[in-house]
Amino acid sequence: MTETAETTGQAYVICELNDIPSRRARGFTLLRLDDDGREVPWPIVVVRWGRQAFGYVNRCPHDGVNLDWERDQFLDSYGTRIMCGKHGALFDIGTGECIEGPCLGGKLQTVDVEVIDGDICVTGVELAGYEDVEDEAEKTAED
Ligand code: FES
Repeated sequence: MTETAETTGQAYVICELNDIPSRRARGFTLLRLDDDGREVPWPIVVVRWGRQAFGYVNRCPHDGVNLDWERDQFLDSYGTRIMCGKHGALFDIGTGECIEGPCLGGKLQTVDVEVIDGDICVTGVELAGYEDVEDEAEKTAED
Protein backbone atom coordinates (compact mmCIF):
# COMPACT_ATOMS: atom_id res chain seq x y z
CA MET A 1 0.00 0.00 0.00
CA THR A 2 1.19 3.46 -0.75
CA GLU A 3 0.32 6.36 1.47
CA THR A 4 -0.28 8.82 -1.32
CA ALA A 5 -4.06 8.95 -1.23
CA GLU A 6 -5.19 12.47 -0.54
CA THR A 7 -8.49 13.10 1.06
CA THR A 8 -10.84 16.01 0.63
CA GLY A 9 -13.61 15.33 3.12
CA GLN A 10 -15.10 12.07 1.90
CA ALA A 11 -13.53 12.43 -1.54
CA TYR A 12 -10.33 10.51 -2.25
CA VAL A 13 -8.16 11.85 -5.05
CA ILE A 14 -6.98 8.95 -7.18
CA CYS A 15 -5.47 10.84 -10.13
CA GLU A 16 -5.72 14.01 -12.15
CA LEU A 17 -8.38 14.10 -14.86
CA ASN A 18 -5.64 14.58 -17.45
CA ASP A 19 -3.86 11.42 -16.31
CA ILE A 20 -6.49 9.52 -18.29
CA PRO A 21 -7.00 10.65 -21.92
CA SER A 22 -10.60 11.16 -22.98
CA ARG A 23 -12.30 7.93 -24.09
CA ARG A 24 -9.74 5.85 -22.25
CA ALA A 25 -9.87 3.87 -19.04
CA ARG A 26 -7.50 3.02 -16.26
CA GLY A 27 -7.54 0.50 -13.45
CA PHE A 28 -6.70 1.20 -9.83
CA THR A 29 -6.48 -1.08 -6.86
CA LEU A 30 -7.87 0.77 -3.87
CA LEU A 31 -7.99 -0.51 -0.33
CA ARG A 32 -11.28 -0.53 1.53
CA LEU A 33 -11.97 -1.36 5.14
CA ASP A 34 -14.23 -4.36 5.69
CA ASP A 35 -16.69 -4.68 8.57
CA ASP A 36 -13.88 -5.90 10.84
CA GLY A 37 -11.66 -2.96 9.96
CA ARG A 38 -9.31 -5.02 7.79
CA GLU A 39 -7.90 -3.63 4.58
CA VAL A 40 -9.14 -5.48 1.50
CA PRO A 41 -8.13 -4.79 -2.13
CA TRP A 42 -10.84 -3.09 -4.15
CA PRO A 43 -10.00 -3.03 -7.87
CA ILE A 44 -11.87 -0.41 -9.85
CA VAL A 45 -11.89 0.95 -13.38
CA VAL A 46 -12.30 4.63 -14.18
CA VAL A 47 -13.38 5.69 -17.66
CA ARG A 48 -12.84 9.27 -18.72
CA TRP A 49 -15.24 10.76 -21.25
CA GLY A 50 -14.44 14.40 -21.92
CA ARG A 51 -14.77 16.24 -18.60
CA GLN A 52 -16.69 13.34 -17.04
CA ALA A 53 -15.45 10.23 -15.28
CA PHE A 54 -17.30 6.98 -14.60
CA GLY A 55 -16.25 4.39 -12.06
CA TYR A 56 -17.03 0.70 -11.68
CA VAL A 57 -15.74 -2.21 -9.69
CA ASN A 58 -13.36 -4.14 -11.93
CA ARG A 59 -15.38 -7.33 -11.79
CA CYS A 60 -17.43 -8.89 -14.56
CA PRO A 61 -20.96 -9.89 -13.48
CA HIS A 62 -20.70 -13.01 -15.67
CA ASP A 63 -17.80 -14.92 -14.10
CA GLY A 64 -16.57 -12.52 -11.44
CA VAL A 65 -13.17 -11.95 -13.05
CA ASN A 66 -11.35 -8.70 -13.71
CA LEU A 67 -12.56 -7.03 -16.90
CA ASP A 68 -9.15 -6.19 -18.36
CA TRP A 69 -7.34 -9.01 -20.08
CA GLU A 70 -4.31 -6.76 -20.36
CA ARG A 71 -3.59 -4.00 -17.91
CA ASP A 72 -5.81 -0.98 -18.59
CA GLN A 73 -7.44 -2.59 -21.65
CA PHE A 74 -11.05 -2.01 -20.66
CA LEU A 75 -12.69 -0.66 -23.79
CA ASP A 76 -13.76 -2.19 -27.09
CA SER A 77 -11.89 -1.34 -30.28
CA TYR A 78 -14.15 1.69 -30.87
CA GLY A 79 -13.55 3.06 -27.39
CA THR A 80 -17.29 3.39 -26.87
CA ARG A 81 -18.10 0.45 -24.57
CA ILE A 82 -16.47 -1.27 -21.63
CA MET A 83 -15.57 -4.80 -22.70
CA CYS A 84 -14.80 -7.84 -20.61
CA GLY A 85 -11.71 -9.53 -21.96
CA LYS A 86 -12.77 -13.05 -21.01
CA HIS A 87 -15.94 -13.61 -23.06
CA GLY A 88 -16.43 -10.21 -24.67
CA ALA A 89 -19.44 -8.84 -22.77
CA LEU A 90 -20.05 -5.18 -23.62
CA PHE A 91 -21.17 -2.60 -21.06
CA ASP A 92 -22.55 0.91 -21.45
CA ILE A 93 -19.93 3.37 -20.21
CA GLY A 94 -22.46 5.70 -18.59
CA THR A 95 -24.60 3.12 -16.79
CA GLY A 96 -22.51 -0.05 -16.54
CA GLU A 97 -25.39 -2.12 -17.98
CA CYS A 98 -24.44 -5.14 -20.03
CA ILE A 99 -25.81 -4.54 -23.51
CA GLU A 100 -24.33 -7.56 -25.28
CA GLY A 101 -22.83 -10.87 -24.22
CA PRO A 102 -23.37 -13.66 -21.71
CA CYS A 103 -24.45 -11.38 -18.85
CA LEU A 104 -26.96 -9.39 -20.90
CA GLY A 105 -29.18 -7.48 -18.49
CA GLY A 106 -26.53 -7.62 -15.76
CA LYS A 107 -24.70 -4.56 -14.54
CA LEU A 108 -21.29 -3.52 -13.34
CA GLN A 109 -21.18 -2.32 -9.76
CA THR A 110 -20.98 1.47 -9.74
CA VAL A 111 -18.20 3.33 -7.94
CA ASP A 112 -19.08 6.94 -7.21
CA VAL A 113 -16.48 9.22 -8.78
CA GLU A 114 -16.47 12.98 -9.19
CA VAL A 115 -14.16 15.42 -10.90
CA ILE A 116 -13.19 18.01 -8.29
CA ASP A 117 -10.76 20.81 -9.19
CA GLY A 118 -9.32 18.75 -12.04
CA ASP A 119 -8.88 15.61 -9.96
CA ILE A 120 -10.81 12.37 -10.24
CA CYS A 121 -12.04 11.49 -6.77
CA VAL A 122 -13.79 8.46 -5.33
CA THR A 123 -16.62 9.42 -3.00
CA GLY A 124 -19.09 7.70 -0.71
CA VAL A 125 -16.75 5.02 0.64
CA GLU A 126 -14.15 4.76 3.35
CA LEU A 127 -10.76 3.91 1.93
CA ALA A 128 -7.71 2.70 3.76
CA GLY A 129 -5.50 4.01 0.99
CA TYR A 130 -4.81 3.04 -2.56
CA GLU A 131 -2.26 1.33 -4.64
CA ASP A 132 -1.54 2.55 -8.14
CA VAL A 133 -1.04 -0.60 -10.18
CA GLU A 134 1.16 1.22 -12.68
CA ASP A 135 3.39 2.70 -9.99
CA GLU A 136 3.72 -0.69 -8.31
CA ALA A 137 4.74 -2.27 -11.63
CA GLU A 138 7.31 0.46 -12.19
CA LYS A 139 8.70 -0.01 -8.67
CA THR A 140 8.97 -3.75 -9.25
CA ALA A 141 10.75 -3.20 -12.56
CA GLU A 142 13.25 -0.88 -10.86
CA ASP A 143 14.05 -3.39 -8.09
S1 FES B 1 -16.33 -13.31 -17.52
FE1 FES B 1 -16.86 -11.43 -18.47
S2 FES B 1 -18.04 -12.01 -20.17
FE2 FES B 1 -17.58 -13.87 -19.19
